[in-house]
Amino acid sequence: MDTNFDEKRDGFQALRFDGEALELLDQRRLPAEESWLRITEVEGVSAAIADLVVRGAPAIGIAAAYGAVIAARQRGNDLDGWQHDMQRLALARPTAVNLVWAVERMRARVARAGRLDPDDLTREAFAIHRADIEANRAMAVAGSERIEPGSGVLTHCNTGSLATGGIGTALGIVMEGVRRGRVAHVYADETRPWLQGSRLTAWELARNGVDFQVIVEGAAAALMATGKVQWVITGADRIAANGDVANKIGTYNLAVLARHHGVKMMVAAPSSTLDPATASGQGIAIEQRDAVEIWRAAGLGAQPAGFAAWNPVFDVTPAALIDCIVTERGAFQPPYDFSRR
Ligand code: MRU
Repeated sequence: MDTNFDEKRDGFQALRFDGEALELLDQRRLPAEESWLRITEVEGVSAAIADLVVRGAPAIGIAAAYGAVIAARQRGNDLDGWQHDMQRLALARPTAVNLVWAVERMRARVARAGRLDPDDLTREAFAIHRADIEANRAMAVAGSERIEPGSGVLTHCNTGSLATGGIGTALGIVMEGVRRGRVAHVYADETRPWLQGSRLTAWELARNGVDFQVIVEGAAAALMATGKVQWVITGADRIAANGDVANKIGTYNLAVLARHHGVKMMVAAPSSTLDPATASGQGIAIEQRDAVEIWRAAGLGAQPAGFAAWNPVFDVTPAALIDCIVTERGAFQPPYDFSRR
């Protein structure tokens, strides 16, 4: 069994698997430090997903697929034990549907084989990883073609190589747009409270030699009012059948502001992010995280006495505010119908 994932990879690889262990670039430490964690137990994969060592919907799905292989190696012939591991893995985070999708793919592979075969599962995990790389390439082309030459683009959260298997979803489009001269200037929203924009997107853009400016979230309206931005481009964690999009908290704000200022809104995600079983955004579970993330972003170590916070880390943008949804199958316009994946 060849356990080398030798596909020509695009972008920076934040996640690799050698057949035995999952190695993850610890995103909590970026941009200050590039350190890797080596994980050989499925509990470690769940913890890495929950603690944001690996993050971004497609990357979480790929990590979970490798987690299923690791669990199979741990469990031997204990299929019930493995199914239990899969249940726990699928619950590591609630909003990104790619996680459940990947676990279901691994389960279906086991159902077909009728037994736990780690080598067979490794092939399935590699297939999931490769498909994401290819989806990223296709989205970069389809999305960048929609952008008028010389446009300014504002992006939110991180959607590049750190968040996916390849060059990224929204950030892949942005970088392809820069390469083709369609994107003249890139703005990255800082993305509170975890600061994916000012820490991770900024790190990726700098590595790729792309000029950009980070803005604080509160500057988005003022930026749009200058006329310097023609597109807001974001990723997605789950897209309901009607085109409502769950994505990093603050995406909805940008969509409302964009509509007010005549700026267009594009969302990019592979079809593993589509959730045909959920009719609209109302049915999407929104993850709430510990308020300590807010206090840390504010430069406070812990919760000051008497302080309280509400920390939903995703929001739902209604389909009506989205001008274009890009998957590997092309660019879709309203009315959206994702009742099939
Ligand atoms: O909480 P995170 O960092 O996992 O959230 C990630 C996002 O919301 C991304 O914008 C989303 O996954 C798009 S995927 C590349």
